[in-house]
Amino acid sequence: MSLHPLTRRLMAPDITAMKRVKPIVALTSYHTHTAAIADKYCDFLLVGDSLGMVMHGFETTVPVTLEMMIVQGRAVVRGAKRALVAIDMPFGTYEESPSVAFRNAARVMKETDCGAVKLEGGRRMGETTRYLVERGIPVMGHIGLTPQSINVLGGFKSQGRTRDEWAAIEEDARVLAEAGAFAIVLEAVSPPLAKRITDEIAVPTIGIGASANCDGQILVMEDMLGLSPRVPKFVKKFGAVAAAIEDAIRDYAADVLDRSFPAVEHTYGMKEEAPEAPPATSPVTKKPKKLST
Ligand code: KIV
Repeated sequence: MSLHPLTRRLMAPDITAMKRVKPIVALTSYHTHTAAIADKYCDFLLVGDSLGMVMHGFETTVPVTLEMMIVQGRAVVRGAKRALVAIDMPFGTYEESPSVAFRNAARVMKETDCGAVKLEGGRRMGETTRYLVERGIPVMGHIGLTPQSINVLGGFKSQGRTRDEWAAIEEDARVLAEAGAFAIVLEAVSPPLAKRITDEIAVPTIGIGASANCDGQILVMEDMLGLSPRVPKFVKKFGAVAAAIEDAIRDYAADVLDRSFPAVEHTYGMKEEAPEAPPATSPVTKKPKKLST
């Protein structure tokens, strides 16, 4: 019996091989049904720690736990059949040392069956990236605006908008690429800097707020669907899902209130003909049975 599935899921090297071949399409995803839809169009799905803000209403990604990532990661892997699924390592689970990072990343991979993890940070993550890759864990890098460092950065601030910031961010990209990262997210990086990095490094850059100069693009799915109440400047809304949800819920409430829902077609009819009900006014002939105590 063949153990090969009909459609092979994309793997980290497949994403790397797309550089200069085709634009890489990616979205974040946190649950099964939307993962199944996005799977048809995306090369990879990222279970981003943005789920803390999008699904749980946290102000930042800092409170997100490994357990939250694993639960949602499993849901996305169940929904996606073809796209690579990468999972964010949340704040506090990988920065301490390469061996701590390996233990937690291996747990994520074993418990979710995902194909890669993503770590935030440039040069400081070089050694850890190499350590994980050498031990079988594909790593996606994430530089520029790194939301887990918000308390140090002082806010969600765009990066590389003055030339004196460029060298450090370019060095971040170079170190991660040399350490074996299979792709690097550039978040909120100025377009000319995104172009320099994209031209220079051998692995794909995935832009979010970093211009079309990158090798691929990613957005938070709820932002581009028009579900998130507040979105950054770089988001284009491709849908109006919040309005569609509100219309549906308003109609549902109205139908419940005027009893037009549920209609007959939404009920389970009797399998046999129901005995004729006694007229409402007929006297009760049988005494009700006593309930045994
Ligand atoms: O957590 C996330 O959604 C991300 C993307 C913004 C790249 O890291």
